[in-house]
Amino acid sequence: MTEKVYVIHENEEWTIHLFRRLEELGVPYEDWFTDTGSIDLSEEPPKGVFYNRMSASSHTRGHRFAPEMAEAKIAWLERHNRRVVNGSRALRLEVSKVNQYMALDANGIRTPKTVAVSGKEQLLAAASAFGGESFITKHNRAGKGLGVRLFHSVEALEEYVGGGEFDESVDGITLLQQYIQSPEPFITRCEFVGGKFLYAVRVDTSEGFELCPADACRLEDISCPADGASETRPKFQVIEGFDDPIIAKYERFLKENGIEVAGIEFIRNGEGELFTYDVNTNTNYNADAEVVAGTYGMLELAKYLEYQRQTLTTFAK
Ligand SMILES: Nc1ncnc2c1ncn2[C@@H]1O[C@H](COP(=O)(O)OP(=O)(O)O)[C@@H](O)[C@H]1O
Ligand SMILES: [Mg+2]
Repeated sequence: MTEKVYVIHENEEWTIHLFRRLEELGVPYEDWFTDTGSIDLSEEPPKGVFYNRMSASSHTRGHRFAPEMAEAKIAWLERHNRRVVNGSRALRLEVSKVNQYMALDANGIRTPKTVAVSGKEQLLAAASAFGGESFITKHNRAGKGLGVRLFHSVEALEEYVGGGEFDESVDGITLLQQYIQSPEPFITRCEFVGGKFLYAVRVDTSEGFELCPADACRLEDISCPADGASETRPKFQVIEGFDDPIIAKYERFLKENGIEVAGIEFIRNGEGELFTYDVNTNTNYNADAEVVAGTYGMLELAKYLEYQRQTLTTFAK
């Protein structure tokens, strides 16, 4: 069969790992790097499997309208009933945490108390009404910890918003969110391929909120209670035998939203209550952690895409 796997993305640095795995397996693929470009809507798309791994943080790599262009491509592909892995609904969730939280909530998954705000004055007003506790701000359309800051008072937020450093979300929506204080400085990220749980990774947060392994922590605001902790314990660690009722809930949530590939993040508070706060549909995997555990996300993903390609003739509409 000549059908290929087409990969829609805007980040070569991460997608190269997938291409390497596809090559290893001998899977024919095409790089559909998506940023500027054009689609003739009167044409038919090629036959094949289309995998969307567009990222919400594309604007930080100079690809401001890549998600919009990806949406256009996917609309075209879906109109022609092409097999799109992580299609339009996945992209919708990728670029909006509000949409993530509403979809999680609809599936009985608890998220931190959040207020979505557009406008500086409105942000301060919302913070005053939020309650006395500590809160964080974050971008609605983000990734890489964009705009994630911790505040212990409305005054501190006022200072930040009034100063030159205020960094607004690219879609204009800032989220004001309940700060979940975890007794231990880590979050858990659960990886899914084909809508099925693959593994959970523990991510050390003692150095800040910037958790993307590709970039250094840039958030000076956050206190660093455990300087040097990462020397004794790696930042990313696959948790052996992770088993929790949340996995079944996540799988149901993914199925309902037509998401096949995802990394979902949660944090536990002092009472052990679990809060889910981020859904990544263009997930990346930490190489060091995977070597230790002997499990490889990109390999599983490449196998999954190849399986979809092989079964195209059986299931294609
Ligand atoms: N409500 C919260 N309470 C405590 N820490 C949080 C909260 N939300 C986010 N964080 C921290 O900030 C990091 C980045 O936030 P996240 O929502 O995952 O944004 P992004 O989409 O940019 O990754 C998280 O991994 C976590 O360490
Ligand atoms: Mg995150």
